[in-house]
Amino acid sequence: MSIEVAPLARADIPGAVECVQKAFADDPYFRWAFDDPSKFNLHRNAASLAAHFHYGINCSCPIFVAKVTLTTSDHKTDREIHLPPGSIVGVGWWYSPKVVSMPQSWSVWVQEWLLSFRQLKNNILFLGRGGLNVQRYWIWKQVQQDAQNLLWQDPRGYYFCNVVGVTSEARGMGVGKKLMKCVMEKADREGMPCYLESSKGYPNVGIYEKMGFQLVKEIECADGPDACKLYCMIRTPGSKY
Ligand SMILES: CC(C)(COP(=O)(O)OP(=O)(O)OC[C@H]1O[C@@H](n2cnc3c(N)ncnc32)[C@H](O)[C@@H]1OP(=O)(O)O)[C@@H](O)C(=O)NCCC(=O)NCCS
Repeated sequence: MSIEVAPLARADIPGAVECVQKAFADDPYFRWAFDDPSKFNLHRNAASLAAHFHYGINCSCPIFVAKVTLTTSDHKTDREIHLPPGSIVGVGWWYSPKVVSMPQSWSVWVQEWLLSFRQLKNNILFLGRGGLNVQRYWIWKQVQQDAQNLLWQDPRGYYFCNVVGVTSEARGMGVGKKLMKCVMEKADREGMPCYLESSKGYPNVGIYEKMGFQLVKEIECADGPDACKLYCMIRTPGSKY
């Protein structure tokens, strides 16, 4: 059994949603933003993630999935994964660089409206945000925007790793690195920098350092005494991995 990485197809969306939900179940940001577990609605959350994946595909974002396969390849895993072929065990979701001075394209503008419409439909269908603390969501958005305004010095923009997650049974087997390499290699060919924000300091900062990222700032989303730290990392083109 081996694992293959491929661009996300629409048929992969349910599996990719489940993978992200599993990979981030104990994530500090997730726990901070969905602060009342009794209100968390897994199905509402899945609908929201699916809407975002459709948006990502429609906007041609570089999104990759790692799938269990039966085919022989030279990337055999050293541990056995007891999951059926086709199961998605990793997702890497990036945004392409956006030139700071360029206005947003019409097609992205349309997709953003479509995403808002899908989310409104989800709010109605599920009678709310499924446990998302909306105030915290906007605190995070503002802190993230401030950090990017400060750190994104390259006017050509950055490949932004929005989400990378591997399910626990497939971690430490090179899946995360394969997902990251899909875009890091492209960024290197184009001479472009990459950026990410991790909500876990340990072990993630060390993992991303091995991929050539450097910690450039620690930021904090604070809602009263409850705070969530984010580790901002930048990778200059051509760094080792
Ligand atoms: C972070 C994450 C995506 C990494 O994916 P992964 O498949 O486990 O990582 P890989 O197996 O590709 O390992 C990449 C490198 O990090 C090292 N590494 C992996 N796990 C490690 C750990 N726990 N401690 C130290 N080093 C580790 C590997 O040895 C490898 O180094 P190498 O290139 O020298 O061989 C994955 O652990 C994950 O999904 N975690 C939970 C969700 C999450 O935190 N996502 C990131 C939010 S920004």
